[in-house]
Amino acid sequence: MRNDMKTILIDREAIKKRVSELGKEIARDYQGETPLLICILKGSIVFYADLVREIDIPVHFEFMTASSYGSATVSSGVVKIVSELDNKIAGRHVILVEDIVDSGRTIAYIKNDMLTKGVKSLKVCALLDKPDRRVTDVKADYCGFVIPDEFVVGYGLDYDQKYRNFPDIGILKPEVYQK
Ligand code: PRP
Repeated sequence: MRNDMKTILIDREAIKKRVSELGKEIARDYQGETPLLICILKGSIVFYADLVREIDIPVHFEFMTASSYGSATVSSGVVKIVSELDNKIAGRHVILVEDIVDSGRTIAYIKNDMLTKGVKSLKVCALLDKPDRRVTDVKADYCGFVIPDEFVVGYGLDYDQKYRNFPDIGILKPEVYQK
């Protein structure tokens, strides 16, 4: 997989350090509470698994699926949500865990929907933020790294379902997806 990368943008050591910092921040902010951490599948699974182990207070797990890319490198703009969480989020402190906020459509769509379901509070924790591509007015309350407008893969992020298990975050060589 390394041969398909033009460069490594964020290596596993830097990710580990930043994820630990985010976990500490969340634990401090939610002291005395049991927040519900919702993993937005599939891209966030790796980040989620590492993040929850860095939060030294009780948390509850939930999962939902959102998909907007298909096999393209840019978002299709249509967000598809598969979730049965409606009766589990009322009255809860909810944290949405995302691998990346790009156009912001996914997170804006989920947030707008959840805000009508009686959550006590709603925050977003995103490992990566690509502000250059934003088309909505959303931002992550907890953000790991702000990154340039490059197509990144690894640590959960895919191209056509591949590279999710690459342990660093890399920029793919254009020839890999222009074939
Ligand atoms: C990716 C990523 C975010 C979303 C961000 O998911 O995991 O959920 O796109 O893009 P946006 O800010 O432009 O909405 P994707 O649709 O590729 O599904 P996946 O997580 O299963 O890879």
